[in-house]
Amino acid sequence: MKLLAISGSLRRDSHNTMLLQAAEELLEPGDALELWQGLREVPPYDQDDDVEPAPAAVATLRAAVAAADAVLIATPEYNSSVPGALKNALDWASRPVTTNVFRNKPVAVIGSSIGMFGAVWAQGELRKVLAAMGARVAEVEVAVGRAQERFDLNGTLIDDEVREQLRDGLATLAAELDPALVAA
Ligand SMILES: Cc1cc2nc3c(=O)[nH]c(=O)nc-3n(C[C@H](O)[C@H](O)[C@H](O)COP(=O)(O)O)c2cc1C
Repeated sequence: MKLLAISGSLRRDSHNTMLLQAAEELLEPGDALELWQGLREVPPYDQDDDVEPAPAAVATLRAAVAAADAVLIATPEYNSSVPGALKNALDWASRPVTTNVFRNKPVAVIGSSIGMFGAVWAQGELRKVLAAMGARVAEVEVAVGRAQERFDLNGTLIDDEVREQLRDGLATLAAELDPALVAA
């Protein structure tokens, strides 16, 4: 499985980015995870600019999603919803509607916050957005609350329960892949 990982946080010491890095450690042999680094460069969505060729950062995102077998998104929660930068990038990726790169793409949403609930509302909203785009949203929920207690100062996940949830989530996402792809 070739996995594209997207963190919804631009923060240098983001717990959501750490969560994706922890997921990378749990991949099965032969699987690979690429952490997308382009979120900051995506311009504000403007339908006037949504022409070919697309802005470079948008083209890079679309190509990365298209090339991936599945996408894993870790989102923080901002004001009970998805951070604007992440939603903006998905708006770009959602066009053209019928052929957008997320259509039928297996996607899992996970998330982390420093509060109690682990970004559950943001995750729910993100799943709704992805479903509207036509993505195949896997039944995965890893909600990491009190994130500051789950990672050490090096950003390493130190919570075995979260690690097991991540492992299960990756297996559920892999099961969403076309059996022919899994065998390849
Ligand atoms: C603008 C803003 C709004 C936030 N709103 C929420 C919220 O609604 N619920 C919540 O649990 N945490 C909220 N937080 C706290 C974030 O969950 C916390 O900063 C988290 O660590 C961000 O994820 P990151 O570590 O990946 O950057 C908010 C933080 C910011 C900066």
